[in-house]
Amino acid sequence: MLLDSHSIILKMIPKNRRERLLSQLEDGALVIISTNPEQLRNGDVHYPFRPHSDFWYLTGFTEPEAVAVFSKENYTIFLRDRDPAREIWDGERLGVANAPKILKADKAYPISELKTQLPQLVKNAVMLYYDFKPCTLDDKIMACLMATNMQSLGECLNEMRLIKDKNEIALMQKAADISTQAHQLAMQKTKVGLFEYEIASIFDASFGKNNTEHAYTPIVAGGKNACILHYINNNQVLNEGDLLLIDAGCEVDGYASDITRTFPVSGKFSVAQRQIYQIVLDAQLAAIKCIKPGEIVTKPHQIATKIIQQGLIKLGILQSDGKLSQFYMHGTGHWLGLDVHDVGSYKKNGQHRQYQAGMMTTVEPGIYIRKDDKINSMYWGIGVRIEDDILVTENGNRILTKNLAKTIDEIEHLMREK
Ligand code: GLY
Ligand code: MN
Ligand code: MN
Repeated sequence: MLLDSHSIILKMIPKNRRERLLSQLEDGALVIISTNPEQLRNGDVHYPFRPHSDFWYLTGFTEPEAVAVFSKENYTIFLRDRDPAREIWDGERLGVANAPKILKADKAYPISELKTQLPQLVKNAVMLYYDFKPCTLDDKIMACLMATNMQSLGECLNEMRLIKDKNEIALMQKAADISTQAHQLAMQKTKVGLFEYEIASIFDASFGKNNTEHAYTPIVAGGKNACILHYINNNQVLNEGDLLLIDAGCEVDGYASDITRTFPVSGKFSVAQRQIYQIVLDAQLAAIKCIKPGEIVTKPHQIATKIIQQGLIKLGILQSDGKLSQFYMHGTGHWLGLDVHDVGSYKKNGQHRQYQAGMMTTVEPGIYIRKDDKINSMYWGIGVRIEDDILVTENGNRILTKNLAKTIDEIEHLMREK
């Protein structure tokens, strides 16, 4: 039960990750990393706990209130000890006695002893590397750490997380597959008169049934709601003649998928919707095509913006001297991994970096047309985004989400097959 209840990441040898990290740091370096605090929702109710991604990556441990301290010589973990009274309410804990074996630590202490043990551990460290992001250590502990040479862990760890190994890719493919199925079902179940939340519930059920959870709050946006980029109210009725934009993805053992599809509520694109959709699709396909090792990471955005700009000018929606940002105001992609907007810099030595095999990125161009008297009214309220998850491979790329209907014909066909 204890083993089963712990993350599959444990099987992915976080020990190697700790060793790889330490091999990049000087001898005598000590790494300190804490997990996220639990978040209160209201009253005595907490949000479901989600470990901090860095901590999860390096320890595989998924309980709250834990701090890992490791050097080339020693790995110590501080965690909540067993507590029969609390476990009646909150469930079984790994506990201090089990931790060394399960987490492959040399030593484990109750988290309550962090304050007393940490000065000993820190004493001989040449340099402390601390992950400031979750920052759950209290002021006294921070003061003790500050007395030693201290650096942020950020960059080294982000670079490691940016390149996915085969286990991580397998988890992300699983997440992509589960999300693909849910999107497919949503397309088939959508009909005029349903509410956005009814379609959102398809994702809740599909993700839940696969023992996964949302990687982010889903966007289920009918009609002009699609022009609100972070629309999460998901509470409006789906009208005849409208498009429905769904941006939803699950995470498997912390690893995210991130998919957007836009399709007609009635199953058939109007002429105006078709025109806009095809521009976004052309932009997305061309942007994906350029992704390969050695290509500059800004290239997909350059390509997508050019195609969208030309397409909108051709339709008379954008003036040739107009601002594209009126209709396309976000980036074309982001790193994807344990965080949906994953870590990893887009620049190296001040220059935009190149793609490398093992990087995982989204490609997600869009067009959003709000009501505007200067634009033909048949385009008002059309919001389209198409988003896939792309792995950079040795020879090019692999689309993890390629099985999900995307062309106009594929979507209309799938929706007819209800
Ligand atoms: N779902 C978040 C994003 O697409 O960036
Ligand atoms: Mn995205
Ligand atoms: Mn998305």
